[in-house]
Amino acid sequence: MIALDPNVKNRPEWINVRVRRQDAPGQEPYWELHKIAYEPELNVITILQRIAAQATTSDGKKVNPVTWDCGCLEEVCGSCTMVINGKVRQSCSALVDTLMKEDPDELVLEPMSKFPVIRDLMVDRKRLFRGLQKVKAWVPVDSYYNMGAGERILMDDQEQNYPLSQCMSCGCCLEACPQYTKVELVREEGESDEAFEERQNKAHDEAFVGANAISQAVLFNNHPTGKSLAGERLDALMGPGGIAACGNAQNCVSVCPKEIPLTTSIAKAGRSTTIHAIKKWFEK
Ligand code: SF4
Ligand code: SF4
Ligand code: FES
Repeated sequence: MIALDPNVKNRPEWINVRVRRQDAPGQEPYWELHKIAYEPELNVITILQRIAAQATTSDGKKVNPVTWDCGCLEEVCGSCTMVINGKVRQSCSALVDTLMKEDPDELVLEPMSKFPVIRDLMVDRKRLFRGLQKVKAWVPVDSYYNMGAGERILMDDQEQNYPLSQCMSCGCCLEACPQYTKVELVREEGESDEAFEERQNKAHDEAFVGANAISQAVLFNNHPTGKSLAGERLDALMGPGGIAACGNAQNCVSVCPKEIPLTTSIAKAGRSTTIHAIKKWFEK
């Protein structure tokens, strides 16, 4: 139990933080307990900074600082995702006072389980970005000349597109998805960087692409310039690891920190791929 601060009613003196650590890719994980002095309005990143500064476990053992990933500290970059008290979320916006209402005894920090661990709480989200590449989640406007103003976007389309454009590639939807299973390849002896990357890309392309990439395909297919790649995006979604792998469990939509209507995107993508398949059949 957390000891209560005798000077402040119902306020703990210490926060027990249990961290799942792993020293390197492929190594056995282990748990470590840290004790941090309570202060109001801490977030999980501050707790990790305190753990790094102390670098000592609750039983006085000197340890290496815990590694984690973060960038913006305002729920925009998507890099600080971890499993906190059993739920995937952003550590920068996870407030300790709120978490202690969920579990007053301890704060439990784990890396996402669907991506290979690089070290401690830091994971390799390469597969997530490969998924965005696979569905060409961009507007193709690169050029060396001024192409003038883009096409106007109808208000209706703006309203549909804006929520989808807030995706920060955090991976929460992928962590929660039962169909998105971990792909972790081990480098073979003597394998070159290029050969390993090629093997990794192939494995990532064959595995389920996930809700975020499906939703981004819907976003860019509804953009006046992005539409030019619509067929290629739908082809990607109809191929291996595409939309057919979605089991419609709807876990993704319930954990998205940006409240993106992912299941609506999945339904739209499903309809578009069916129409695309019929059109292709008639074009034969
Ligand atoms: S609806 Fe599809 S993408 Fe979302 S959690 Fe379920 S299986 Fe995964
Ligand atoms: S769809 Fe939501 S949960 Fe998934 S990566 Fe984007 S912001 Fe994160
Ligand atoms: S640090 Fe950028 S989303 Fe948390």
